[in-house]
Amino acid sequence: MGASAALILHNGNLQTRANDTEFRFRPDSNFHYLTGLSEPGAVLVIRPDHPQPFTLFVAPLDPAAERWSGRRIGPQRAREDFGADASFPLGDLGKELPALLDGVKTLWMPYPHQDPLSTRIQAISRGLRGRNRYGAHPPVYYADANILLGEDRMYKDPGAMQSLRRAIALSAAGHVEAMTHCRPGMYEYEIEALVEYTFRRNGSTGPGYNSIVGGGNNATILHYIDNNAQLHAGELLLIDAGAEWDYFTGDITRTFPVSGSFTPAQRDAYEVVLAANRAGIELATTAHTIDDIHTCCLRILCEGMRELGLLNESVDEIIERELYKPFYMHRTNHWLGVDVHDAGYYCVDRTPRKLEPGFVLTVEPGLYIDAAYDDIPEGLRGLGIRIEDDVLVTRDGPEVLTTAAPKQVAELEALVGSAHR
Ligand code: GLY
Ligand code: MN
Ligand code: MN
Repeated sequence: MGASAALILHNGNLQTRANDTEFRFRPDSNFHYLTGLSEPGAVLVIRPDHPQPFTLFVAPLDPAAERWSGRRIGPQRAREDFGADASFPLGDLGKELPALLDGVKTLWMPYPHQDPLSTRIQAISRGLRGRNRYGAHPPVYYADANILLGEDRMYKDPGAMQSLRRAIALSAAGHVEAMTHCRPGMYEYEIEALVEYTFRRNGSTGPGYNSIVGGGNNATILHYIDNNAQLHAGELLLIDAGAEWDYFTGDITRTFPVSGSFTPAQRDAYEVVLAANRAGIELATTAHTIDDIHTCCLRILCEGMRELGLLNESVDEIIERELYKPFYMHRTNHWLGVDVHDAGYYCVDRTPRKLEPGFVLTVEPGLYIDAAYDDIPEGLRGLGIRIEDDVLVTRDGPEVLTTAAPKQVAELEALVGSAHR
């Protein structure tokens, strides 16, 4: 953080869902990452050069309010259970914060900053400036805490990995549950319910992002979350779903035939994506960047597009002229952690950064063939295939964290619908 610096974060407030009901509270990613605390409204101040470097402001104990909206930790437990050096009820922010920020040279806070705390910090800064004749000093520099914490969150420590492994294990269990119970005639929402039931019944807070459950042509819509169509024999089903554990999330995509058997054309397309997925995972080492992985996967997908009869041009021409875009329109990787698209830079000094031990990334090539494309082989129209794994970079190479979710053709054909046999 630098000398004479402080960090201030707000855990966010409850958000209205409709009229007078609210969404279930989900803490701010950075706030929870640093504190483990998931109460609305809480404020964190870290000031390393202060005799009490870690201060928490939390909602005060209030039996009447807690009767309606749940237990609170209160200031005392903020110290005892969450390790704060000092703690205050939220109502004391106005009284305590000016002194805590007085003399701080660099104040780290998240940008963009629309939360009520930012308005208060501006007022405090103005106040400290006004009282400079009495010796007060407002912050000189305001720095983006997202960048500071994004960098820290890139390197998964043993605690982070424990939570992430659990999130991924439950994610995989949800996919296996879906595969086992899938059969023609079911609706996408039934599959969604089975996946999310598996998450919740194992103690997950729920999905880390809206589950995508798309059969047939719906799988060509990348962020399809309606999940309300019926599934038919002959279609492929794409499920992109991840469980959240301790506010870390898994991110897995699997694609399989609703009936349990691939058609020959579907299998050929699936094997192309699987080959890209496998080759991409191999490159998740400290010698490579995610651009290397994307380039490698893209080439394999483009070779496949030629072999499948989707395109006739040479692979170089397909890549050069971006002719693959109707069939593959997203990137192949992102960081994974507290957020599904986790914080942290992809490029440093305008250059893609080399992977480092402790980074976790997804590898998620796909092929999407809209039913409306009428100039391609008929057996391939109206399907989307994505195979997405989560990978930890280690000194010894890639560690695939998602192996509990089957992806080989033979494994899928054996598992899909097996609950009904
Ligand atoms: N589920 C979002 C993604 O795969 O990036
Ligand atoms: Mn992903
Ligand atoms: Mn995903």
